[in-house]
Amino acid sequence: MKKIDQFKAYMKKHEWLFQCPICQEAMSVEENRYVCGNNHSFDIAKKGYVNFMMQPVKTKYDKTLFEARHHIIESGMYSPVHKEIAELVEGSHHLVDLGCGEGSHLAHIRQRVPNPLTGVGLDISKEGVMTAAKNHLDTVWCVGDLAQTPFKGSAFDTALNFLSPARYDEFKRILSPEGRLIKVIPNSGYLKELREAVYGDEPYDNQDTVELFESNMKLVDRKRVTYQMPLNQDLVTSLVKMTPLTWNVEEDLDVELNEITVDLDILVGVRE
Ligand SMILES: C[S@@+](CC[C@H](N)C(=O)[O-])C[C@H]1O[C@@H](n2cnc3c(N)ncnc32)[C@H](O)[C@@H]1O
Ligand SMILES: [Zn+2]
Repeated sequence: MKKIDQFKAYMKKHEWLFQCPICQEAMSVEENRYVCGNNHSFDIAKKGYVNFMMQPVKTKYDKTLFEARHHIIESGMYSPVHKEIAELVEGSHHLVDLGCGEGSHLAHIRQRVPNPLTGVGLDISKEGVMTAAKNHLDTVWCVGDLAQTPFKGSAFDTALNFLSPARYDEFKRILSPEGRLIKVIPNSGYLKELREAVYGDEPYDNQDTVELFESNMKLVDRKRVTYQMPLNQDLVTSLVKMTPLTWNVEEDLDVELNEITVDLDILVGVRE
C-alpha cells in the first residue's frame, strides 16, 4: 500500500475524533480531504499529515530546530522521561500530543505502552509535523493551533503537552470526563550547563507554570525526573540548535560540554 493510502486508511478509521475547527460540525474523509457538513475542507497531504490551519503561520521553530530535536531525542536523552510517561499512559486508548513538534516523544511513548493506543499529534509548525510524518506512519499528524483544535469534545482519554504552551480551556474540552492531562515542564536544573554557557548563572523556577496548571486542573500527580546524560561534540551541536534558549545568541556559538542535566516535572491533572 502506498504511504498516502496507508495514512488515509488510518485517518478514515479515526475520523470520529475530529470536528471542523471553523464550524464545529462532524467531519469525514473524502478523497484527499477532510470535509465537514458545511463543506469546509482540509487537505490530506501526500506526505502523511492534515493541515487544519486557515492561514499558514510562520514560527521560529524551523526545520533545523526540529532535525536537531529529532537527533537528540533519538539519542535516548529523554528515555527515562518516556518511561515514566508510558507508565502513566498505560491502559488509555486515545492519546493526543498537543505541541508534538517532530513527533518523536509521542512515538517513543507509544512504543513503550503494551496496549493498542491511537496516536494523534498536533503542532502549529508545518516543518515539525512534516518531519513527524516522514518518520512515523501510524499516527494522525495534524498542523493546527492548540488553542482551537480540530478535535471533538471528550475525544481523548490522555493529552500530552511536552515543553509546549498550554491552553487549558481547549485541553479540558477535548479530554473525556475521566481524562488526564500530562504536562512536562522544565525544573531548575533543566539544560543548566547550556544555560550557564550561554547566559552565565541565571536561576530558573517553574512555580508560575505550576500555579497556572493548578488554577485550571486538579493536580493528581507530580513527579520530578532528574539525571545527567553524557554528550559528544555531535550531540552538543544538536543541543545548541534544538532549543529556544539559544535564539538570541550569535550563530557560531562555541560551547564545550561533556554532560547535560535533564530536570523535568511531569504534572498530571484531571478536569475539576
Ligand atoms: C519547545 S517545542 C517542543 C516540541 C516537542 N513537544 C518537543 O518536546 O520536542 C514547542 C512546540 O510548541 C509548538 N507550538 C507553539 N505554539 C503552538 C500553538 N499555538 N499550537 C500548536 N503548537 C504550538 C511549537 O511549534 C513547537 O513545536
Ligand atoms: Zn465546517
